[in-house]
This record gives sequence, C-alpha cells and structure tokens, in this order.
Amino acid sequence: MQRLLYISTARTPLTQAEIDDILRTSRRNNAAVAVTGLLVVGGRRFMQALEGPTEAVERVYQRICADPRHFAVVMLARETIERRRFDDWAMGYRAGADPSGTELPEVIRSLTATIEDPTLRAYFTSFGDLHAKS
Ligand SMILES: Cc1cc2nc3c(=O)[nH]c(=O)nc-3n(C[C@H](O)[C@H](O)[C@H](O)COP(=O)(O)O)c2cc1C
Repeated sequence: MQRLLYISTARTPLTQAEIDDILRTSRRNNAAVAVTGLLVVGGRRFMQALEGPTEAVERVYQRICADPRHFAVVMLARETIERRRFDDWAMGYRAGADPSGTELPEVIRSLTATIEDPTLRAYFTSFGDLHAKS
C-alpha cells in the first residue's frame, strides 16, 4: 500500500455544493477501490491524503491531477505504508470553519492526533494554521 499527500489550488472559489459533489464522487469511487483519505479545504487551497493499494492510489491521483477545477497540484509526500491512518474515511473532509465553530487548526489537530508519523501530522497541522479563518 502507499500513502500520498498533495496540495493544490482551486481555479475559482468552490461553493459548498461543489465541494459536496467532489466528496460524493470521491467516496463512491474510493470505496470501490479500497482507497481512504482526508481532504482539507482552506480557502482556495486543498490538501489531500490518499492511501490504499498502490495502483489504486495512483489511478485516483492521476484522475485528480487532470481535474480542471484545480491546478498547481504538488505532491508533498509519497510513502509505502503497512497500515492506514484514515481507515474510517473513504474520504474524510474538514473545512476552514466547521459548523460547531471549532477552528480549523483544532479540528485538524484532533483529526490527526492518532497519526504517529510526526512529519505527516505536521503537514496537516501547518496547513490548518496557515488557513485558519480567525
Ligand atoms: C480537490 C479534489 C479532490 C478530489 N478527490 C477525489 C478522490 O479522492 N477520489 C476520486 O475518485 N475523485 C476525486 N476528485 C474528483 C476527480 O478529479 C474526478 O472528477 C472524479 O474522480 C471523476 O469520477 P467519475 O468519473 O466517477 O465522475 C477530486 C477532485 C478535486 C478537485
């Protein structure tokens, strides 16, 4: 299995309906090929982790790279893994501010608290700090 982490920028700010559409498609497609992950949206920036069978992750990532809704897709990390970190989510999602009022950095910290790899955790938390709405 592998885990891949990338960032990208939305071509235009996406509405919640557009994000919901991406999530619906992602959950359907990813579940079918045993890919799990987390999508974090901060303003126009996306950060996503994808993990699962190497070939499946590769195919999903290639499709994502070709998606005209975003650009400047930059891979931050790719590693071979023994275990998943996001096994509860075909695609988990966190936004800049959550309906409960919890700030993005806190949401990300709690979401990633169980990630043992400090580098992977730091990628997400620094993204949260950078894109906090407060
Ligand atoms: C930021 C972002 C993240 C995405 N993540 C996924 C994903 O995890 N899985 C997926 O299948 N598609 C994802 N997509 C959508 C793909 O780019 C593509 O539109 C979709 O896979 C096409 O699937 P379909 O042929 O079933 O409509 C994402 C798109 C964007 C812009």
